[in-house]
Amino acid sequence: MTQRKGIILAGGTGTRLYPITIGISKQLLPVYDKPMIFYPLSVLMLAGIREIAVITTPQDRDQFIRTLGDGAQWGLKLSYIEQPSPDGLAQAYLLAEDFLAGAPSAMVLGDNIFFGHGLPEQLAAADREGPGGTVFGYRVADPERYGVVDFDISGGVRGIVEKPEQAPSPYAVTGLYFLDGSAPERARAVRPSARGELEITSLLEMYLREGLLHVQLMGRGYAWLDTGTHGSLLDAGNFVRTLSERQGQQVGCPEEIAWSRGWIGDAQLRARAEIFGKNGYGAYLRGLLGEG
Ligand code: TTP
Repeated sequence: MTQRKGIILAGGTGTRLYPITIGISKQLLPVYDKPMIFYPLSVLMLAGIREIAVITTPQDRDQFIRTLGDGAQWGLKLSYIEQPSPDGLAQAYLLAEDFLAGAPSAMVLGDNIFFGHGLPEQLAAADREGPGGTVFGYRVADPERYGVVDFDISGGVRGIVEKPEQAPSPYAVTGLYFLDGSAPERARAVRPSARGELEITSLLEMYLREGLLHVQLMGRGYAWLDTGTHGSLLDAGNFVRTLSERQGQQVGCPEEIAWSRGWIGDAQLRARAEIFGKNGYGAYLRGLLGEG
């Protein structure tokens, strides 16, 4: 069992999804059959992490609590931290300093979806890294929209460039960051960028300068989807639907992960299935128990 704690960053304003997100948090919107936040939550669970803080805006906090509760239904311990204003991804480490209490962390953005064969093994490898941090590079057609990995001639990482005009490589840094226990202390030294945010790239650069940042590439068999625009949200929903209907297997189902890892037993899984009644999600959970 890992000592690493999890953070899901689920604040933000979601302005690109207006008017939908005027009244509801982006990370609670449906991605096919589940709230968006179930997917990043599942990634942390696949990494073996059971103690997780959800960072939300003050106004959305109650809806997250209603959706996720204290996590006991999945054998987790969930807590909630408010981010008063969206001052950047690196701010999460300042807000979560007491929660982390010196522990290493895995932080995932609440609007990022990861899927791929071998993901648990890749996460386990990141968890095993000693001091320093691990981020994941993923090849995209439009790297200019992201933080991009700059490789040197021997394939080492020279830098990470935030939204470059000319991308040094097609590898974007995904929204999943494994950092050691020094992250909050380092985050205190991050100064706001020109757009007024505490940038995660600045924090990662500190690790990089000390030779402490590892970049794992996610190969072409992976899907990394972000869901921040109307089109990408619909695409992500269709992706999940296509895959789960074709395979008869869920994508990002916290109940399944918790049960298969022995964090909850049959009775707890059955109780969850009861809540969902006869819908497909409930039928799937009953199917796991052989009670289809
Ligand atoms: P973004 O997509 O960069 O920002 P946003 O969600 O506010 O959306 P928009 O650009 O449409 O206004 O954020 C990426 C993820 O990080 C998303 O899940 C929200 C979260 N986030 C926070 O929780 N706090 C923050 O300060 C920022 C900048 C983002």
